[in-house]
Amino acid sequence: MNSKLGPLFCILLSFGTVIRQTDMAYLNVAEFFNITNGNLSSITWAHAVNSKSELAASLNSSIMMLEADVVIGKINNSGNEIPIMAHPPANTSDLSLSDFLSEILEFNLKANSQAKKGVKLDFKSIEALENSLDELDKLYANMSYPVWINADIISGPVNATGTPVDPARFFKNTKHFQNSTLSIGWTTNYGQNFSTSTYSNDQITNMLDVILQNNVSQSITFPVRAGIAAESATQMRRLLSDVTNSTLTIWSGDGDNVNAKKLQQLILSVGVNKTYIDVPDALLKEINLSGSSSVAKTTLKLLGIALVAILVL
Ligand SMILES: *[C@@H]1O[C@H](CO)[C@@H](O)[C@H](O)[C@H]1NC(C)=O
Ligand SMILES: *[C@@H]1O[C@H](CO)[C@@H](O)[C@H](O)[C@H]1NC(C)=O
Ligand SMILES: *[C@@H]1O[C@H](CO)[C@@H](O)[C@H](O)[C@H]1NC(C)=O
Ligand SMILES: *[C@@H]1O[C@H](CO)[C@@H](O)[C@H](O)[C@H]1NC(C)=O
Ligand SMILES: *[C@@H]1O[C@H](CO)[C@@H](O)[C@H](O)[C@H]1NC(C)=O
Ligand SMILES: *[C@@H]1O[C@H](CO)[C@@H](O)[C@H](O)[C@H]1NC(C)=O
Ligand SMILES: *[C@@H]1O[C@H](CO)[C@@H](O)[C@H](O)[C@H]1NC(C)=O
Ligand SMILES: *[C@@H]1O[C@H](CO)[C@@H](O)[C@H](O)[C@H]1NC(C)=O
Ligand SMILES: *[C@@H]1O[C@H](CO)[C@@H](O)[C@H](O)[C@H]1NC(C)=O
Ligand SMILES: *[C@@H]1O[C@H](CO)[C@@H](O)[C@H](O)[C@H]1NC(C)=O
Ligand SMILES: *[C@@H]1O[C@H](CO)[C@@H](O)[C@H](O)[C@H]1NC(C)=O
Ligand SMILES: *[C@@H]1O[C@H](CO)[C@@H](O)[C@H](O)[C@H]1NC(C)=O
Repeated sequence: MNSKLGPLFCILLSFGTVIRQTDMAYLNVAEFFNITNGNLSSITWAHAVNSKSELAASLNSSIMMLEADVVIGKINNSGNEIPIMAHPPANTSDLSLSDFLSEILEFNLKANSQAKKGVKLDFKSIEALENSLDELDKLYANMSYPVWINADIISGPVNATGTPVDPARFFKNTKHFQNSTLSIGWTTNYGQNFSTSTYSNDQITNMLDVILQNNVSQSITFPVRAGIAAESATQMRRLLSDVTNSTLTIWSGDGDNVNAKKLQQLILSVGVNKTYIDVPDALLKEINLSGSSSVAKTTLKLLGIALVAILVL
């Protein structure tokens, strides 16, 4: 990153520079799963597919996208340190990245098109990403299904202290995965006992700056934490309008404090054609995304009754 250019980009962005992204991800998720009306919220997710049993269960289900975490660690606590599927602080797993990728590749080769899966790899550190490149390179050309590459590359709310994945190294190492969607987010510090928290304007600007500085050409989705995103409608709209063709991927921690009403309003106002939703079932049940509010439904019902009354008379 050129530090001298930083302030210049900030100025440009503050004057409303729009980052033009194409939507070229090979087999764009909506197309791949034949989603009607571009309703991205109807894509289904398996979260943290980090073990052999989770993988088997996900493959034997109708779920479309498998989200899983990559860290450096050991298989069954022994042998060399390699990229494995696990969520920090875990550093051992019975599933390596190598096995995860090849099992899904083999599954998709045999599966009929309605059963095929896409994958989202959440790299928990720059080391995890850099040590996974050989394995990904080897299989990439044969992965004719959605392959998302995710990392938290910017410090985020609420005063999160986790170390983000270095953005310049992230973009440099993902440059040759042109058919992938880059899922780039913020570190977060949140949970059940947090009250109203938002993504700050600076945190949004920092994200826009690194996208511009690194000449990113892939499709972009911004993974945002449901409870915080629901309180940050203005910032979410800024992301979507400043990076054309970008989307949100709304995720949530189990038990996070989420204002479901505000979340529903956010999703419906930016559009279900702009929002992937990977949240626990309990939260999903709380939000109605059909697009017709209860007020609208009541109005329609009353109009219907009036019409019937008029016809009868
Ligand atoms: C969005 O992506 C499509 C497909 O790549 C492209 O044709 C279109 O120009 C893009 N729109 C903008 C505003 O960048
Ligand atoms: C696959 O799912 C079916 C039901 O959907 C179940 O009967 C079967 O046991 C599952 N197989 C495995 C290997 O989990
Ligand atoms: C893995 O985690 C365990 C338990 O937290 C810890 O004792 C061990 O040092 C870690 N191993 C490595 C290689 O970091
Ligand atoms: C790891 O442990 C699981 C059982 O928990 C076993 O099925 C698997 O074969 C082991 N893998 C290796 C590489 O030892
Ligand atoms: C999507 O539609 C195409 C063309 O109609 C079809 O070949 C394919 O099987 C469908 N895929 C899914 C996932 O339904
Ligand atoms: C990729 O697919 C080609 C053609 O089917 C095959 O020859 C090759 O072995 C595959 N490579 C991998 C790494 O699976
Ligand atoms: C990307 O997708 C195109 C099809 O749209 C394919 O021809 C190309 O080989 C893919 N590139 C890689 C690196 O897989
Ligand atoms: C975050 O940091 C700011 C500034 O240091 C402070 O005012 C605020 O209370 C902190 N918020 C939380 C939830 O710790
Ligand atoms: C949240 O607050 C409740 C009540 O004070 C407490 O029992 C619980 O442990 C807290 N949860 C977390 C994650 O701190
Ligand atoms: C981005 O593109 C500009 C203009 O072509 C170039 O000067 C700069 O070095 C590029 N930056 C990166 C990180 O590739
Ligand atoms: C996406 O949804 C929004 C809000 O519902 C709507 O205004 C817009 O026209 C839709 N865009 C497309 C391309 O369907
Ligand atoms: C979008 O898909 C969701 C999940 O399938 C569904 O509940 C909702 O009604 C759909 N919304 C629209 C506007 O099509």
